[in-house]
Amino acid sequence: MDNQLYAVVGHPISHSKSPRIHSLFAAQTGEPVEYTAIQAPLDGFVRTVREFFARGGKGLNVTVPFKEQAWEMADQHTERARKAGAVNTLYQDSHGVLWGDNTDGAGLVTDLTINHGLELKDKRILILGAGGAVRGVIAPLLQTHPAELVIANRTAAKAEALARLFADDAWGITQLRGCGYEALTGAFDLIINGTSASLQGDLPPLADSLVGPDTVSYDMMYGPQLTPFSAWALNAGAATAQDGLGMLIEQAAEAFFVWRGVRPETGPVMVELRELVG
Ligand code: ATR
Repeated sequence: MDNQLYAVVGHPISHSKSPRIHSLFAAQTGEPVEYTAIQAPLDGFVRTVREFFARGGKGLNVTVPFKEQAWEMADQHTERARKAGAVNTLYQDSHGVLWGDNTDGAGLVTDLTINHGLELKDKRILILGAGGAVRGVIAPLLQTHPAELVIANRTAAKAEALARLFADDAWGITQLRGCGYEALTGAFDLIINGTSASLQGDLPPLADSLVGPDTVSYDMMYGPQLTPFSAWALNAGAATAQDGLGMLIEQAAEAFFVWRGVRPETGPVMVELRELVG
């Protein structure tokens, strides 16, 4: 069978690990997938997507800075994309309808619960940041039924607004609230960094008392070096510090499943990508 075309669209895109990940999934599953990276002009995302599907393309991943535009251009949204307010996976159905999905939150929760074996039910979870990256993972985190989910952000009002937006998803099971960093008290079981502060080598102002001996920290970023957040968590006494490479691979596996109906095994891909990233 001829290979079917998939791609990731972003700007910039040369750093993207997605072509490597999806090529490994294709080789492992025997699916006829050819996956490339496309850099869309900053003012030409919609045109790029239309051209791709007009050429017979089957599915796209969407990354920075186009996830909100992808949401806007999709004809239909999956429930999880609607909640996230952003789309990272696009595909056309047999009627030519353009569907927008979001696999980021599922990717994070799979990485936390399956790969790292964390039980989130009844736990105290803190998430740092209130931008698009955090919004995308709130509903899937709430589905694990933590006792508490606190969203903390430099601009407290944005965290409070996010908590209000997802109030119904807490089902009266999880205490969900938003606040500024100074209002945080007590130790958390899991602290997730969803801010972009690491990109500037920066760190939100966090008290060491947020970390206990069993605390797991998770930075949605990844790289060869410990991020400032992971270094802070370990220094404050966290049990382990995880990075977001697993989330990246799991969101890709979920997209592959959406497109192909086949779920790749992520373990071997994780090993290979870890060697690549350092
Ligand atoms: P993304 O799509 O990656 O979430 P975003 O929507 O621009 O990007 O959000 C960036 C997040 O990182 C925000 O929560 C931002 O805090 P503010 O809402 O107060 O701006 C947070 N952030 C960025 N740089 C930061 C820094 N140096 N210290 C603390 N928080 C930072």
